[in-house]
Amino acid sequence: MTMTTIHVRKNGPYRIEGEDVKVVDWDGNEYSVARYPIALCRCGGSTTKPFCDGTHSRTGFQAAEAAVGPGAEDRPAKDTKDQ
Ligand code: FES
Repeated sequence: MTMTTIHVRKNGPYRIEGEDVKVVDWDGNEYSVARYPIALCRCGGSTTKPFCDGTHSRTGFQAAEAAVGPGAEDRPAKDTKDQ
């Protein structure tokens, strides 16, 4: 089985590389996937959520460099590889 990889695109979507992936809603209903790789919206602006429709480029979406919140490490992923 090929490993699925999730790429966090700089100022863009989550790109899911792998074909053994399904996207389901909160009730477990599966979305139909038109093409691979899958890009999931991270900016909140897509009209085809949960999929990216390119709106992030038009709005100038600027992503946070790292997760921020209770219990989260406030560092970019590249700084945590050597730990
Ligand atoms: S990340 Fe592309 S439309 Fe939101």
